[in-house]
Amino acid sequence: MSSLEQLWSRGKEFLGCEYAIMGGAMSWVSERHLVAAISNAGGFGVIACSSMPPELLEKEIQATRALTDKPFGVNLIVMHPQLEELVAVCKKENVSHVVLAGGLPSKQTIEEIKSYGGKVISFVPALVIGKKLIRSGVDALVIEGMEAGGHIGPVSTSVLAQEILPVLSQEVPIFVAGGIARGETIVSYLKMGASGVQLGTRFVCASESIAHPNFKKAFIKAAARNAMPSVQIDPDFPVIPVRAIENKATDDFMRKQHEVIAKHRSGELDKESAQLEIEHFWAGALRKAVIDGDVENGSLMAGQCVGMVTKEEPVADIISQLVEEANHFLAI
Ligand SMILES: Cc1cc2nc3c(=O)[nH]c(=O)nc-3n(C[C@H](O)[C@H](O)[C@H](O)COP(=O)(O)O)c2cc1C
Repeated sequence: MSSLEQLWSRGKEFLGCEYAIMGGAMSWVSERHLVAAISNAGGFGVIACSSMPPELLEKEIQATRALTDKPFGVNLIVMHPQLEELVAVCKKENVSHVVLAGGLPSKQTIEEIKSYGGKVISFVPALVIGKKLIRSGVDALVIEGMEAGGHIGPVSTSVLAQEILPVLSQEVPIFVAGGIARGETIVSYLKMGASGVQLGTRFVCASESIAHPNFKKAFIKAAARNAMPSVQIDPDFPVIPVRAIENKATDDFMRKQHEVIAKHRSGELDKESAQLEIEHFWAGALRKAVIDGDVENGSLMAGQCVGMVTKEEPVADIISQLVEEANHFLAI
């Protein structure tokens, strides 16, 4: 029988932390306080760079270092217009692990990070892409299923895990994300070959998270069924699915799509402008909810496991609960 220690030893070694639990980068939420708290509690915090300019990222990295001497990572969105400069900041600050999200990273970006000794972690949406990413030199992969909060793909975590872990887990460490809220689930994925896990939703209501009290309250109140993907109403106007707790903004977004598409059909708006209006609807919406606490008009990005978030509690308690559940499950 394997111990938890053995099951996630590869992940722990790769991340350089006590528990192979990554705090998934969450825009606006995963800043210095939450990231440092996760790393200080033995997990692995990851700063969400999101749309930050390079100067702000540099400050955030330095501020996080002031709060923890433990390792942490930085999550960069590959379509950020200043990606090269952001990678240069990671290089300057000698960031040990860079997570590349929001698309497939170029070979050049991967090489640039590896050239200064940084480890590259990339999201993998399908087996064939995982193989390609490993050939391009990524050091580890994250499988993120559609149960997750925020931008999601179409496939569930359990299916991605079955498709990818048996084939690729010998090659590089793989971390599983999406819908994980308990230790038993962590053990299941580790037993299937994962090296560790990544959790987002479970950490939003941590006492150290700077998310507005209204945002946390919405999480504590919500059930799994309230965290739904955004809906596209017309095949000609694609909407990238984002899983969030349904609120007034969800309904307004449907109305907006109908209104803009009708304007396009009547010749009032060209297709490109209509698509842009739809895309711009959510601009700044996560900030509005997380920072300003506007839970009606902002975006309440959350995963399906939001139903298992029942109170505000310190990160250390969340992590020790997960570890306790995992150990208990292993002992049965
Ligand atoms: C509020 C919120 C914001 C997020 N922002 C990002 C982001 O900026 N970049 C990213 O790669 N993933 C982002 N994610 C996904 C998380 O990093 C993580 O992979 C996901 O939350 C894991 O699934 P779970 O929510 O079921 O735990 C976000 C998730 C949430 C809930």
